[in-house]
Amino acid sequence: MCGISGVVGFKNIVDSLYQGILNLEYRGYDSCGVALMNGTRLLIKKDVGEVEKFFRKENVLSLKSQIGLAHTRWATHGKVVRRNTHPFTSGDGKFAVVHNGIISNYRALRDQLIHEKVRFLSDTDTEVIPHLLEKFYKKHKNIEEAMVKTLNLLEGSFALAFITVHQPDQIYCAKRESPLMLGIGDEIKFIGSDFNAFIEHTKNAVILDDGEYAIVSRDAYVVKNYVTRKEVAKPITKIDWDSETSRKGGYPHYMLKEIYEQPQMVSTVLELDISDLDEVADMILKSDTAYLVGVGTTFYVAKFAQYVFSSLAGVFLPSISSDEFVGLANLNRKSMVLAISQSGETYDTLSAIKQGKAAHAKTAAVVNVMGSSIARMVDKVVLQNSGPEISVISTKAAFSQMAVMILIALRLGLKAKKITRGQYEKHLASLRDLPGIIQNILNERSGFIHRIASNHSKVRHWLYLGRGIYYPIALEAALKMKEVAYVHAEGMPGGFLKHGTLALIDKEIYSVVFIPPREDKFLYQATIHSVEEIRARSGFVLGIHFDDRGKNRDLFSEELILPPVPPLVAPLIQLVIGQLLAYFTATSLKCNVDKPRFLAKSVTVG
Ligand code: AGP
Repeated sequence: MCGISGVVGFKNIVDSLYQGILNLEYRGYDSCGVALMNGTRLLIKKDVGEVEKFFRKENVLSLKSQIGLAHTRWATHGKVVRRNTHPFTSGDGKFAVVHNGIISNYRALRDQLIHEKVRFLSDTDTEVIPHLLEKFYKKHKNIEEAMVKTLNLLEGSFALAFITVHQPDQIYCAKRESPLMLGIGDEIKFIGSDFNAFIEHTKNAVILDDGEYAIVSRDAYVVKNYVTRKEVAKPITKIDWDSETSRKGGYPHYMLKEIYEQPQMVSTVLELDISDLDEVADMILKSDTAYLVGVGTTFYVAKFAQYVFSSLAGVFLPSISSDEFVGLANLNRKSMVLAISQSGETYDTLSAIKQGKAAHAKTAAVVNVMGSSIARMVDKVVLQNSGPEISVISTKAAFSQMAVMILIALRLGLKAKKITRGQYEKHLASLRDLPGIIQNILNERSGFIHRIASNHSKVRHWLYLGRGIYYPIALEAALKMKEVAYVHAEGMPGGFLKHGTLALIDKEIYSVVFIPPREDKFLYQATIHSVEEIRARSGFVLGIHFDDRGKNRDLFSEELILPPVPPLVAPLIQLVIGQLLAYFTATSLKCNVDKPRFLAKSVTVG
């Protein structure tokens, strides 16, 4: 996924363009580029590398312009080299284009253009766009006509923008599947892949829908449908984030800041409108099968939710990773798809929802970004209100989604009479206590976790084990270690070990075991059995447990003892420990915590 930022105003806009693209860098950071209008001449600068370094190296901030585009790339087609960086220009140099998405028919378009003697300079799908614009402009001598002709030839996904010397005071942009929105300021207008592109300047956004294009000048804009060519009246969306919450706030990394925001997340979730949660619970009750869907971290949230719905509401809901949904789900009009997504833009999860809608299933979603594609597509959306999650590594959003799932399951359990009002209130009280518990652990234990992580940062292979609801916690904690510290970590159910993986145990592979509170007798004992299996083969085990009877030297190689907590919230506490283990391992290894290699915040391509 890439970042697109654009600004058009009466004064010099280069600073605003820089801030906008810097705020989007979490979306992709292989390379950076800008297109600025200099009178009636296009100035293009672009190269591999991060935004700040690029702007400094190319001295971009010394340039002046009243209109410009900027782009950060997360490579989908073509290596991370300068020739593949955006913006791309037409052969005559009169159009400059930036793009996020995948043009799935680019090879046929490229072959046709090459046949027409067009010379390509890159290996990317995007480069067909400026050449098509030039071709149709030469034919029709009309930019809008050239744009509409081009857009209707493209297949696949795009959020694209271009500027042209033929109309040097306007930005042209269009959207299909990849997110794109306008920022409406006084005598200055913005475009961006998300609100962060212009949140410092305006909270008034116009969110484009699939099939729409916009023509934006400093004091006006118009939105049209590129199939019907009819103008579309679009509402102004008021952004409910402020730019401060999008900053690091004194933390060394967004990831740590967002881990420390988790106590607040619980309070935010508890303030959600209970009627929204009830509506989702009713949709589940009325469906014959309600599928829990997410991908990556949000698939693990979906798996976590399976255990929660089983234990609190007595219903089994299948969880399927969005990328595998097409091959597994048997949908009909009595089905339901409950999607989970931080960005609300993930291609695989969007596809799963579309598949549900095509089968006339009911659709709902828990999403963090208001106005996102998923939020606008489903029958019912629960906005989790976690605030912007800037780090590529999802922590507070996933944590918050798990808390939302617990609440929906409690509401469902109450409706289905699986739990009494007394039990419901008791569980709610546990959730109300959770912020204080987490804050205490963050204050009291993070130093100890930091030491454990530093001591073992050179370990290259970890097993992460959990039984029952601690299994998805183990999966998510292992994913954190992989994606932020680049350390191999395999999450698995504790009971799985003796069925093969035990053969791996030696001095090179360490294990983390997430142990339930003792009062969860069966799960506790079963998990201890897994520990004993490893220790009997002299394997290293870091035991994370709630047993306040002191250290258990002959059971664990190392242990982290947590204060006793209610079983309902214990898995969430273990999740926080897993997040911190990954974070401190990454900082010990001097990894680029908020911008891990090869990753992007939201994968809007298939
Ligand atoms: C988060 O740590 C992961 N980098 C990634 O798996 C993410 O959870 C996944 O891409 C889904 O994103 P979404 O929540 O925005 O849909």
